[in-house]
Amino acid sequence: MKLGICSDHAGFEHKSRLKEWLAAEGYEMVDFGTDSTESMDYPDVAHPLADAVESGRVDAGIALCGTGNGMAITLNHHKGIRAGLAWDEEIAALVKEHNNANVLVMPARFISYEKACSLVKTWLESEFEGGRHQRRIDKIPCR
Ligand code: RB5
Repeated sequence: MKLGICSDHAGFEHKSRLKEWLAAEGYEMVDFGTDSTESMDYPDVAHPLADAVESGRVDAGIALCGTGNGMAITLNHHKGIRAGLAWDEEIAALVKEHNNANVLVMPARFISYEKACSLVKTWLESEFEGGRHQRRIDKIPCR
């Protein structure tokens, strides 16, 4: 499975460690930046990640910023993206089971690296339930 990953400066440390860990776990990782803790603008990395998920260049994505909200808001401007913010394992599971999130977003300033690993693992291992949840997803696009 090929995963895209991105963060702003606030999520850089977690992103770097997650990328190494997931590569060691056998995932093919594509890093969309940022490359340091120097202050930057999250849309500059969120849009390229979203493009890659929408085009199929990667199978799914992981994004981190301070609160997670800047990334989630930006990513969800893309029609093919369902970016879900998660900060505990139950939400990380539900965001796949109910929302079929193709990008997991995490609030780097509010969770430990160990928590981020656990959220990613939970999200990757959870399955979309379909059924009524697919019907709801089908109603999301703007008219
Ligand atoms: C950066 O200070 C912060 O605004 C950003 O990481 C994120 O939380 C925005 O939503």
